[in-house]
This record gives sequence, structure tokens and C-alpha cells, in this order.
Amino acid sequence: MNTNAYLPCEAEVVERRQESPSVFTLRLRFTDPQVHAAYSFAPGQFNMLYLPLVGEVPISIVSDPEDEHMLDHTIRAVGRVTRGLAQLREGDRVGIRGPFGRGWPLAESMGRDIVLVTGGLGCAPSVSVIHYVLRRREQFGRMTIIQGVKHSDDLIWREQYEDWSARSDVHVFLAADAAGPGWPWHVGRVTGLLDQAEIHGAGGVAMLCGPEIMMRLTVDALMERGIPEADIWMSMERNMQCAVGHCGHCQMGPNFVCRNGPVFPYPEVKPLLGKEGF
Ligand SMILES: Cc1cc2nc3c(=O)[nH]c(=O)nc-3n(C[C@H](O)[C@H](O)[C@H](O)COP(=O)(O)OP(=O)(O)OC[C@H]3O[C@@H](n4cnc5c(N)ncnc54)[C@H](O)[C@@H]3O)c2cc1C
Ligand code: FES
Repeated sequence: MNTNAYLPCEAEVVERRQESPSVFTLRLRFTDPQVHAAYSFAPGQFNMLYLPLVGEVPISIVSDPEDEHMLDHTIRAVGRVTRGLAQLREGDRVGIRGPFGRGWPLAESMGRDIVLVTGGLGCAPSVSVIHYVLRRREQFGRMTIIQGVKHSDDLIWREQYEDWSARSDVHVFLAADAAGPGWPWHVGRVTGLLDQAEIHGAGGVAMLCGPEIMMRLTVDALMERGIPEADIWMSMERNMQCAVGHCGHCQMGPNFVCRNGPVFPYPEVKPLLGKEGF
């Protein structure tokens, strides 16, 4: 067993799926069955994926936390490492360190309504929450999933959203800032969906992930509808290196995003959210 947090464990690419022109999913399995059996994570945590000879990046875990067989990561190719990861095929190897960080407040949310508001690839860290809640559906209140994209062509997991939408106990609302022909959902900002979704009043827990500007606007809209700021949680992204609170690369005021986050209650990040330099 590897007890060194800096040492990646080898994993094999079991499947690769292209989700959109720039987004792909890697299904990974540790090559050492003992490591695989011992690994577990909480929704909202992330792994450091290491591409030998290229580098390492933090990526959220999107699989079902109870699926012991596979570990899924959905990745947008934006730069050196993520473009390298995009070249991997079945049978190729990567390194994994993790899981790291604080995940979503699921134990504290038992019995309460859940509102997930995500933008772009911000939906990635929320998918494991959806799996978690659906496995224990009766232990949570109303479940609302709101996802926004810049353009309708950017929506990934369309079938998955349609499946969730077909359930009577899940409410799904999708929005695109701009849409091509045949887009059946809302055109405009995600905040425009909060009325349609009948989000109002205290008692629920909101979980947000996406561009910071989108999260700031969503916080304002949720608070206008009576959700207290302490019940709004958000997943933050910062440049990371060590992932264990040592190097300071991910520092955000008094917090290290890798160790104290990436999921924070809104009041903890409020003073620095959107502030230049932080
Ligand atoms: C906790 C956490 C979870 C994350 N989860 C995911 C995930 O599930 N899927 C995923 O695809 N990414 C995720 N990211 C972002 C991912 O780590 C970065 O995209 C990655 O580090 C970029 O590395 P690179 O070497 O490919 O790009 P670099 O060479 O470092 O950057 C190349 C260019 O891309 C820009 N860039 C860097 N990061 C981003 C970004 N996030 N969005 C847009 N442009 C960017 C840079 O400004 C630069 O211009 C997460 C980040 C954090 C902190
Ligand atoms: S990445 Fe090193 S302190 Fe967070």
C-alpha cells in the first residue's frame, strides 16, 4: 500500500469516451488490485492525475462513489497536461494521487432539499453527488439539478440529463446562453431558471460549481429567494501542485483550496470571491 501522498499509484485507462470536441472521459482502474480495493472517495473530492514525462493536474472524480470497479474523470483539454491526457487510449497508464480535499456536505444535507447549480464543466464535481443522492433518494428532500452552458453544443451527458429528467423525483433544468436549432430548454443564464425551478425559502442546501462569475450571480439570486448564505456551498478551482497544503500554490486568503476545499461554505470564501489577485 502506498502511504506517501506525493507518490502516484499506477492506473490503467480502461475506457475513453469523447464527450464533445474538447471534453473526454477517462475510466481508470488501479493496476494493483489491493490499491484499487482500498481506494474510496467522497463526492466533491479530486485526484491529481499524473501523465509521465508531462506533468500533473487536479481533476474531480465524477464516478459513483459506490462503484468499486471504475474511477471516472471528465476532462477539458485546455493546456499541456490535459491535451496530453486527451491522447491516451485504452491500455495506457497514468499516475493517480488522491483523493484530496473536502467534498460536499452530504451528511449535513440529509432530509433537506438539494439544489445543484452548475455551469460548463462545473457539472463534473456534481455528478457524484447526484449518484449519491439517487442511491438514498428517500433520505433527501426535493432534488433540483440546474446546469448551464455557453452554447447548446457544449452540453455533455445529454442522455444522462434526459434520464434524470424522466424521473418523477428529480427536477432538471438546462440553459444555454446561446442555442442552435432544436434546443428544447431555456435560452439565457442559469439564474433565469431559479423561478421556473421554484427555488425559494430556507431549508434547502445549494451546491454550486462553475465559473466564479456564474457562482456569484447565482448566490445573489439564491439569497434573494431566501436561501441563507450559510446553506450555499461552492467548489473552487485554483492552480495546484502538492494537493496536500504544503506548497501554497492554491492559497486563497487563509485557506488552501486543496486541503480546506475545494468545496467551501459561501461565507468562508465570500470576502475573496472575484477579488483580483485571489
Ligand atoms: C479541485 C479542482 C478540480 C478540477 N476538476 C476538473 C475536472 O473535473 N475537469 C477538468 O477538465 N478540469 C478540472 N480542473 C481544472 C484542471 O486542473 C486544469 O484545466 C488543468 O490543471 C490545466 O492544466 P494544463 O496543463 O492542461 O493547462 P496549462 O498548460 O496549465 O494551461 C493552459 C491554458 O489553459 C488555461 N487554463 C488552465 N486551467 C483552466 C481551466 N480550468 N479552464 C479554462 N482554462 C484553463 C490556462 O490559463 C492557460 O492559458 C480542476 C481544477 C481543480 C483545482
Ligand atoms: S496545492 Fe500545494 S498547498 Fe494546495
